[in-house]
Amino acid sequence: MAKKKPEGYLSGRESRRISRANRKITNELEKKRKRKNVPESEYLTVMHDPQNAVEFDNLHTYFFTDAGTVKSVDGVSFEVPIGKTVGVVGESGCGKSVTSLSLMQLLQRPQGQIVEGEIRLNLGSKAYDVAKMPYEKLQNLRGNFVSMIFQEPMTSLNPVFRIGDQLNEVIELHDGEGKSRDAVKARTIELLEMVGIANSEGVYQMYPHELSGGMRQRVCIAMALACSPKIIIADEPTTALDVTIQAQVLDLLRNLKNKINSSIMFITHDLGVIAEMADYVVVMYAGRIVEKGTAEDIFYHPAHPYTIGLMASKPVVGKQVDKLYSIPGKVPNPINMPDYCYFKDRCEMCVGRCSGEYPGEISLSATHKVSCYRYYDGEKPEKVPPAGQNPADAGRAAGRKPEAGTGRKGGKA
Ligand SMILES: Nc1ncnc2c1ncn2[C@@H]1O[C@H](COP(=O)(O)OP(=O)(O)OP(=O)(O)O)[C@@H](O)[C@H]1O
Ligand code: SF4
Ligand SMILES: [Mg+2]
Repeated sequence: MAKKKPEGYLSGRESRRISRANRKITNELEKKRKRKNVPESEYLTVMHDPQNAVEFDNLHTYFFTDAGTVKSVDGVSFEVPIGKTVGVVGESGCGKSVTSLSLMQLLQRPQGQIVEGEIRLNLGSKAYDVAKMPYEKLQNLRGNFVSMIFQEPMTSLNPVFRIGDQLNEVIELHDGEGKSRDAVKARTIELLEMVGIANSEGVYQMYPHELSGGMRQRVCIAMALACSPKIIIADEPTTALDVTIQAQVLDLLRNLKNKINSSIMFITHDLGVIAEMADYVVVMYAGRIVEKGTAEDIFYHPAHPYTIGLMASKPVVGKQVDKLYSIPGKVPNPINMPDYCYFKDRCEMCVGRCSGEYPGEISLSATHKVSCYRYYDGEKPEKVPPAGQNPADAGRAAGRKPEAGTGRKGGKA
């Protein structure tokens, strides 16, 4: 009797067929991307709201792998208003980093491609669509207009160059016109001091391996903020740090943001961090946005069963439980997504319609939107959240003082 093949098994022939088909698609897309002298009119666009710094509009980012097409970001739309912080939450693998890498044009090409949608970048006098922009054009905006703090500082610093040289290079490249070597060094020292590194002259001479994790992350923040960017993408900047250093880094980021009035896209799976930092929250699941709203909407009136599950799985100071809640089941295979609600196989609140096609977005208020059939008949989410579903609790659960920073203490989220 023939042996049963494991789920997801691909024969060599199938894999080669997929790889040929992928090459055809990616060659086509790369050919378009690598054109020289692309006229500005091709990527010039108009912001839907001039108060937004970035608008993601129906973004689809796929990876064409030999095992099949991974739909990492599958129709994501949200905005980052000028001077505000937008928190992007969701469990591992839901497409948070790929969304931000799409904005930075740092996808692993040729397999990673934006296949549909717009990312509108507000440059003040005009707006560009990053999805269509030539790579070199965006490179000029990186660092001084939009910059990114990566999840793991050790991998974003070059291990064979001194900290001072790496920071000097950023300044020389983006802000160095007319600056002497001494002036560049002085600016680097100033930046190191600004991010709270005491021995700035000493650190200037050091290699990354000579610093602690917290110091490395501060260097990365200094690097990202060196040219006062208008948009800062922080991809889990505190995940690798212990809670006391986490709190310091968050305060630092908040203060710097206020100083240069930037917008922040803050990616994390830590609801406590979101509660402290964000004005708006976007909840992602399996490459799509399942709920979005102001921090108050999300923390006080969570509507999507996934968001409710995330809130319930957070420990709360003063509340004793034998076992923390965890959302049952696992995320569906990104290569083979179901044609119904992606959360259905884990959902404990299903209604009759849930077997139908993926639910469209429903507006619960002017700011609060959810993709779930439960609200199709005008049902509203609970008004009073159970204990632990408010930002101050979430912040405390994450090990920070409720008073820290925003002044958001159980009032406005
Ligand atoms: N280079 C790549 N090639 C193939 N698939 C990729 C690649 N990069 C990311 N993916 C896939 O895209 C999906 C989204 O990944 P992403 O890195 O955005 O997750 P994330 O939400 O940032 O998770 P985490 O919280 O763990 O950082 C995952 O299924 C991942 O396997
Ligand atoms: S649409 Fe149905 S299955 Fe999906 S999250 Fe809502 S209630 Fe659950
Ligand atoms: Mg990530």
